[in-house]
Amino acid sequence: MAQNVDLARFKVAIIGCGRVSEKHIRAIAKLKDRLTLCALVDTNQDAPSHLLSSCKRKIKKHQEFKASIKTFIDYKEMLSEIHPDIVAITVPSGLHFQIAKDCLEFGCNILLEKPMTMSNKSSRELYELAESKGLKIAMGHIYRYFPIVNLLHEDMVNGIFGKAGHGSVVVRWGHGDDYYHQAAWRGTWKSDGGALMNQSVHALDLMCYLMNAEATNVYGMIAKRFRDMEAEDTALGVYTFENGALCQVEGTTATFPNDHEASFFINAEKASIRISLRKGKPSFSITTPKGRNLAFRYLRRYIKQNGLSYLIAVAKNPHYGIYFDLHHAIASGTSPIADGRSGYKAVDMVLGFYRSVMKKAEVELPLSHEFKIEEMNKIIL
Ligand SMILES: NC(=O)c1ccc[n+]([C@@H]2O[C@H](COP(=O)([O-])OP(=O)(O)OC[C@H]3O[C@@H](n4cnc5c(N)ncnc54)[C@H](O)[C@@H]3O)[C@@H](O)[C@H]2O)c1
Repeated sequence: MAQNVDLARFKVAIIGCGRVSEKHIRAIAKLKDRLTLCALVDTNQDAPSHLLSSCKRKIKKHQEFKASIKTFIDYKEMLSEIHPDIVAITVPSGLHFQIAKDCLEFGCNILLEKPMTMSNKSSRELYELAESKGLKIAMGHIYRYFPIVNLLHEDMVNGIFGKAGHGSVVVRWGHGDDYYHQAAWRGTWKSDGGALMNQSVHALDLMCYLMNAEATNVYGMIAKRFRDMEAEDTALGVYTFENGALCQVEGTTATFPNDHEASFFINAEKASIRISLRKGKPSFSITTPKGRNLAFRYLRRYIKQNGLSYLIAVAKNPHYGIYFDLHHAIASGTSPIADGRSGYKAVDMVLGFYRSVMKKAEVELPLSHEFKIEEMNKIIL
């Protein structure tokens, strides 16, 4: 292990150069003293150069940054030639499993976009494979990396907030039909899922992280109200957590695309916690039983722990936090904040919800059998 872990420098490759990859590339460029982007892979051979030119103005010394990058259309060829320390997998969700498995078998740590895979069994398989090889999986669960979230988790673990009573999570992440028509995989049961699997899976993960508890039951309902897609554009349900807390969930892409909102509420014995991101603007409050808002106290504590420049970087691009944390986890032999376990647990929560829709009944978690999202094809919405 390196003496000063933060000085270790790792080679990164990105597989999939579509919409989300720009966030990855910006994060890697900003962490240039720790990470070097060595390869971009896409089956569409024009995608890497489009990606690089789309972030030209957002990356300092763009020419120099570009110089270390080789492009490939076949990820297996890239693995053999580059031998990256970290592979970011940003391909359509239905392809996550096979590519992630190949990368882990090749000996690479991975940053896997959410959702981990399209079945509970294959998600768990990736987690176990990484564990058996001593490799890290960092999940693209961006909400865990929002400022102060780690402190709220820490205080919940330490009992500062007392017992969690109930919670609520709202993901109104509107997308128009144009989004679903952009690529054939979007909104299909086989390769994506709907508002719950794509847009809400990391929000459900955040509720587990904040509650410091896992879900034990779920009852859910879905509908397709406005969007031209195969899967649901609206999901409403209720989870029960192992600590007895209830959590209601609303996940939808049927709202207006220019009014994105992700909001989280936890009612605990000694505080009510609200975190919200609306139209890109974050807000939060931690209210005591006497009505005092501790938001600034938490912000000061966060800045003291991480520094102001880190806060600004993660607020602008949470993927920066994921890469920073993954670098630290590899160099120091610790676990990433959004680790592989959080990946398969979140997929289990979503698939349990879908299973409940199929059965029209409450379902116990974790699921006892394999459930692949494509089984939802039997449901006509
Ligand atoms: N964490 C987040 O905030 C966040 C945000 C958006 C998307 N995502 C996730 O990221 C993933 C990608 O989403 P997107 O919107 O960028 O998709 P996209 O369709 O815009 O991009 C996917 C890219 O992968 C390429 N590709 C397909 N098969 C490939 C293969 N076998 N090898 C190499 N490249 C291949 C495609 O050509 C395309 O360029 C999805 O799983 C999605 O859920 C996460």
